[in-house]
Amino acid sequence: MSNLKVGIVGAGGMAFYHYEGFKRAGAEVIAIADPDRKRALSFAEGRGISGIYKTLGEMIKACPGLDAVSVITPNKFHKPLVIEALESGKHVYCEKPPALNAAEMAEMLTASQKAKKLLMFDFNNRARPEAQAIIKYIKKGRVGTINSAQASWIRRAGIPGFGGWFTTKALSGGGPVIDLPHMLDLALYFMGYPEPDYLLGTAYYDFMDNKAFKGPWGIPDAARGITDVESSCHAMVTFKTGQSLMVRSSWAEMNEREMVSVTFQGTKAGGKVERLFGIDGIDETSIDSCRIFTEEYGNQVNQDIKTEKDESMGRIGNASNFILSINGKAEPLNKPEEALVLMKIIDAMYKSASSRKPVQIK
Ligand SMILES: NC(=O)c1ccc[n+]([C@@H]2O[C@H](COP(=O)([O-])OP(=O)(O)OC[C@H]3O[C@@H](n4cnc5c(N)ncnc54)[C@H](O)[C@@H]3O)[C@@H](O)[C@H]2O)c1
Repeated sequence: MSNLKVGIVGAGGMAFYHYEGFKRAGAEVIAIADPDRKRALSFAEGRGISGIYKTLGEMIKACPGLDAVSVITPNKFHKPLVIEALESGKHVYCEKPPALNAAEMAEMLTASQKAKKLLMFDFNNRARPEAQAIIKYIKKGRVGTINSAQASWIRRAGIPGFGGWFTTKALSGGGPVIDLPHMLDLALYFMGYPEPDYLLGTAYYDFMDNKAFKGPWGIPDAARGITDVESSCHAMVTFKTGQSLMVRSSWAEMNEREMVSVTFQGTKAGGKVERLFGIDGIDETSIDSCRIFTEEYGNQVNQDIKTEKDESMGRIGNASNFILSINGKAEPLNKPEEALVLMKIIDAMYKSASSRKPVQIK
């Protein structure tokens, strides 16, 4: 069987990880599309990518041998691009968040079912060595039932630029609630993606005009751009199974440092997966860990699980998994049905925060 051929749509910061992951699994990236030709050319250079296009449509027309497309654009364009690629018979890998809301995600799910093609998202944290170590304990029954969990992505100063697409609700869908869904997704993965019941949450808009809260990465500020998204949110979700989950996400909040974790409490053991960022807030200097907390023979026991270091935070491994899944060599690490549940929870967070009332999730 010849190598799978992939086209990338959007030559932004995440394209590097997609490219590396696809290559690691034996696929070939043959084309890139971006309305910004300079960006597309600079990404293609030195990577042997010969097809440079402005739009996905042009790419599909010019490359009939394309098997899969990866979508790495601002969030507003995920749904139309994913559906266009699926309808043209391609497997699709799409960046998080899956879409702007649950209604869009439902359309994408239907399109993938109709096309009978794989649709996978970059919930890269599931592919982290720490998350894969913990899920083994859960699947082997060592944790029991997870009653409760806490999912946090707390940035002290991590606004990804002012006035660009990230801070413009019409383009991004919102601030940290929708931009940082990783720990929410990871907690749900550990909990078995139960069906949500109710949510009560709050959102805050502080510091969104204060440059001292800008992150060390992100996109350049836009002088006359829009900044109309939340800076933090806190919520509690209950599930039809009786489980519960606390969620805390922020781009800007008075906190000791950037902290990223899922903690859970099971009937046999608890556990924690964590990434602590250094004060520079970049992946390279962060410290990852995963632990299990149990009781053995009358003693409280904490187990430190040693895993390999993955600075890419699972991004390369997750992209590899997409290719291996198409080739039937692995099970997909995430499913579009789960993405729909995630988007329903995100919708409920915004609804509860604006109405200041609990929201039933259907
Ligand atoms: N998984 C992660 O850890 C992670 C981290 C950062 C960003 N992201 C996600 O990746 C996506 C892109 O973010 P980014 O930081 O790379 O943004 P970016 O602004 O750096 O790059 C986006 C690129 O998309 C291009 N683009 C815009 N509309 C397009 C279209 N219709 N067709 C083709 N290209 C188009 C832009 O010209 C730009 O080059 C977002 O959905 C974001 O949420 C994921």
